[in-house]
Amino acid sequence: MGVAAFVNMRWRERHHNDNRVLFFFDGMRVRESLRGNGVGTLTLSAAMHAISSTYRMSNNHKTRIALLSVTNPHNKAMREVFHKLRWTSHEVMHVWPTPDIVLDAKRRNMRLMEVFDESNSITAPLREFSKQWTAVFTEGQILTAMKLLQQQGASYQRPLYYDVESAECASTFLKHKLALAERRSVWRLQIDGQLRGLIFVREIVVEQSEPCKHSLLSACVVDAQAAESCIVFATEHLALDVFNVVYDTPIRSHHISQSKLLSRVPSEPFVIYRHDGSQCDKVGVNMECTAVEPQTQRARLIRNDQP
Ligand SMILES: CC(C)(COP(=O)(O)OP(=O)(O)OC[C@H]1O[C@@H](n2cnc3c(N)ncnc32)[C@H](O)[C@@H]1OP(=O)(O)O)[C@@H](O)C(=O)NCCC(=O)NCCS
Repeated sequence: MGVAAFVNMRWRERHHNDNRVLFFFDGMRVRESLRGNGVGTLTLSAAMHAISSTYRMSNNHKTRIALLSVTNPHNKAMREVFHKLRWTSHEVMHVWPTPDIVLDAKRRNMRLMEVFDESNSITAPLREFSKQWTAVFTEGQILTAMKLLQQQGASYQRPLYYDVESAECASTFLKHKLALAERRSVWRLQIDGQLRGLIFVREIVVEQSEPCKHSLLSACVVDAQAAESCIVFATEHLALDVFNVVYDTPIRSHHISQSKLLSRVPSEPFVIYRHDGSQCDKVGVNMECTAVEPQTQRARLIRNDQP
């Protein structure tokens, strides 16, 4: 029997959205030779079934659940799998720049901003504007900022995916030795008394399994100017050499294409999919689901009838 497909599942009791416990699905893969034969659909449906039945059993059916996942908008096969299993697209986030640009900068040992000529794009007013980012330290400050941004249309999904960045633990986490090792910080942008953005920064990524060796910024900003200022701030204030920024909603493709600075290099959107968790137990048949690292909520799914 061989492994036909793999999916990673994780959840946190404390991550609630719309009074539901959130489950995250990522890293789905089907063996290349088996793609396009329904294995992906079967795998995801079996995973949904496994999550729903296991969780409901351990919680006396009382708590409602919701499922979240992401994919690139160009990944038609994955989008089709979501569609068939009644997941709906929920939000779009943008990664700036694309991973190949970051890789190129690292390979050439250049600062990201040297890879493309930014001299005309960073104007003096933008540079001044970008100096307005200030550090925040407490859970209260972070939560208040997030609530204000939500009132301006932000959904702030990303911290739910990357739990170490969530408001609940950000202030505690900032004092943790790993956060210190990663030189984590949180910044907010306030102009004329109005909040325009919040950034979570990881200057160094300490991750044994997948060392990325560049800095990561998770930004929730409300307009293109604030989005541009994240890049200037990262380059000129934080002095980061190579980094990428994930923009949460409300930054959309048109903000990126309208910005001289952001549009100089390609960025990559990805779509968040959501399932309301209902009727998960009606899907997923003829599959054997094997947890391979139960403590990290990983599971691999093995199709019974594959050699
Ligand atoms: C995405 C992936 C998991 C899907 O698995 P799969 O076994 O191929 O999926 P299924 O066969 O169940 O369904 C795929 C559907 O997409 C359709 N599809 C595949 N490629 C397509 C394309 N280029 N355009 C439109 N539809 C496409 C298939 O026809 C099928 O629909 P159908 O059942 O109505 O014919 C698999 O292709 C894979 O491992 N890809 C590489 C890794 C990856 O991208 N993972 C997702 C990360 S979010």
